[in-house]
Amino acid sequence: MRLSFRFIVPLALALAAIAYAVVPLVDQFTLKWFVRDLEIRTSLITNTIQEPLQALVGEGSRVKVLRFLNRITQDERLFALGFCDVNRKLLYKTLAFPNTINCSDPIRDPGDDKAAGRGRLVEFGRGPIHVAVNPVEAEGTPYGYLVMVHDMSFVERRSEDTKKYVFYLFVAIGAIVSLITVVIAELSWRGWVAGLKSLIRGESFRHSGNEVRMPELRPVARDLQVLIRDLESERRSRDESQVNWSAETLRGILRDDLKGEEILIVSNREPYIHLRHNDRIEVRRPASGLVTAMEPVMRACSGTWIAHGSGDADREAVDAQDHIMVPPDKPAYRIRRVWLTEAEEAGYYYGFSNEGLWPLCHIAHTRPTFRSSDWSAYVEVNRKFAEVVVAEAKAEDPIILVQDYHFALLPRMLRARLPNATIITFWHIPWPNAEAFGICPWREELLDGLLGSSILGFHTQFHCNNFLETVDRYVEARTDRETFTISYGGEQTAVHRYPISIDWPLASKAMEKPVEACRAETRRNNGFAPDALLGVGVDRLDYTKGILERFIAVERLLELEPRWIGKFVFVQIAAPSRFSIDEYQNFDARVRALARRINERYACKDYEPICLKIEHHEADAVYEYYRAADLCFVSSLHDGMNLVAKEFVAARDDERGVLLLSQFAGASRELTEALIVNPYNVDQCAAALHVALTMPQAEQRARMHSMRGLIQEFNVYRWAGRMLLDAAQMRMRRRLHARSGDDGMRTDASRA
Ligand code: F6P
Repeated sequence: MRLSFRFIVPLALALAAIAYAVVPLVDQFTLKWFVRDLEIRTSLITNTIQEPLQALVGEGSRVKVLRFLNRITQDERLFALGFCDVNRKLLYKTLAFPNTINCSDPIRDPGDDKAAGRGRLVEFGRGPIHVAVNPVEAEGTPYGYLVMVHDMSFVERRSEDTKKYVFYLFVAIGAIVSLITVVIAELSWRGWVAGLKSLIRGESFRHSGNEVRMPELRPVARDLQVLIRDLESERRSRDESQVNWSAETLRGILRDDLKGEEILIVSNREPYIHLRHNDRIEVRRPASGLVTAMEPVMRACSGTWIAHGSGDADREAVDAQDHIMVPPDKPAYRIRRVWLTEAEEAGYYYGFSNEGLWPLCHIAHTRPTFRSSDWSAYVEVNRKFAEVVVAEAKAEDPIILVQDYHFALLPRMLRARLPNATIITFWHIPWPNAEAFGICPWREELLDGLLGSSILGFHTQFHCNNFLETVDRYVEARTDRETFTISYGGEQTAVHRYPISIDWPLASKAMEKPVEACRAETRRNNGFAPDALLGVGVDRLDYTKGILERFIAVERLLELEPRWIGKFVFVQIAAPSRFSIDEYQNFDARVRALARRINERYACKDYEPICLKIEHHEADAVYEYYRAADLCFVSSLHDGMNLVAKEFVAARDDERGVLLLSQFAGASRELTEALIVNPYNVDQCAAALHVALTMPQAEQRARMHSMRGLIQEFNVYRWAGRMLLDAAQMRMRRRLHARSGDDGMRTDASRA
């Protein structure tokens, strides 16, 4: 196409130049043609009227002669007529006859035939006129001269018309030549490219009606494809290390690598919940690591987020198709809410997901409970979500991001309905070892469901290893530990580590408030001493988070180092969670009781060591606590990643504060400059609290600086981008294979 334009532009310029040169010539030529034409006319008129005119002149009737001459001037171009006698005296003239004209010039010799009819151009009023003086004779005897005056303004009009026609002619020629050029160029380019492609594939192609076969190029084609693939992955890994991952980078991947393909995400928890508060509706962001991570990604990607509509005002907020655009202040993507009955929620969410799979996957010493009725609800709700995903998908090969343990069966169900979809499943919680997983009565069904995915992601390599071992143990599949792929039922699933992260830089209003202001306000608002040292813990109220162990460590610190009594306060923010489950109600009671006991033990005037806040806090409020704190304690007994650890580090742009981090949280694999602790080891945790409270500022800064650099580089856009790039690569390979139709070349065939 570009080639065609390169030709069309010079062609248009050349035609314009020619037109520019030709148009003035047109003027000259048309004038000459018309003057010549007039001269012939005057001769003709003279010859025609000389005899009748002689009769009338001979009669001597002035009226008759003038009437005769006037009748002749009815002609459009003949402006006036005059008659002179042989002595060149003007005897008769029509009304319009110009005074400046007489019979003397130019007088032609009556014998000169060639000269007859010739005249001259004279400027007159509204334009040029043509004057011809021709001798008239009767039976060979001259009896006078006829003066014919022609109006020449019509020549100008005709000349203008002619110029217009010439211009349009050139434009038409230009357009036709350009069109023909473009068509020929496109056809030959396509033919050339098709021929080259065929040659590279080692196939035959037609050239000038002949079939050209070059099978010897087939090995070259293979080499080329391998080379392209290597270059692609090299470019990608090189790019990745150089890229500053941001929402824009992610959009770039969607635009360039995925060509704007459709993205659907499915999770149980929705990113915005509508709740009724008396007569107004409040929008809340739930406390969920999954939402924290996925929300900025969806803002960047747009698309549709399918989730359970769990708010009591959710139905009032959606349109007729159960859609709502979010975020409320700057809509960027849409939520499709799925409604569950109380029984479905009880069986699928509280029952199988959170009394079965949650304790099964977390080694927190809480027994999982598996009920057949919960399993049936889990199957049914997965099916319900599958229906919604299929209904929402516009393309036959969308990219579907399935989130978490609530939807282990969904990938297989979607695969059956949308065989060309790229299904990326991310398991946000740990994957236990094969033996622990084996106690689930529906282990094979769960594995079969997950193996419907194109890509299955975990936070750590350890959990990927556990998954492969589990598959090895319980289903008929071939696991490849070099490529980390599983072949099952003739299809492949890639199992990869994608450590989840957070938005960078943090988009929170709290970041605009200086750390000093956050410190002072938080202490003042909570009634703490202005110089109190502050520790924070931020969690859902969940038994896997190690909240009891954290409190016990604080108690032990005060036991071992009484100098902190009255000086160190630990604020625990705990978002109520899954309260319908007995285990969570018991846990709530135990947390409250332990905080009460410790506070009673160490309370002194206006001082309690533990400040327990069991209520929902909006993200901005949580960030203010992070900025106000001297330390943050993440003591999960087992955690896929734990984004609180990353949020605390991201909030500290002053590079102050110390992070205490459980060795059983996935985050401890990345944030190695934190004080890594075993939450079951009370003395170690108490000692770490003491180290944190006495850590020199320079050391705090060095540790924080390093961790901040890591989160900046490995932020949530990189997490999502890495998965989407892998998906894009799979799709590209699938298309390549489909095009080449060469199974032999499929060295690592992956389903996309
Ligand atoms: O960190 C992610 C996560 O733990 C999910 O696994 C879980 O779904 C979510 O946070 C919070 O739990 P819920 O959705 O039950 O409130």
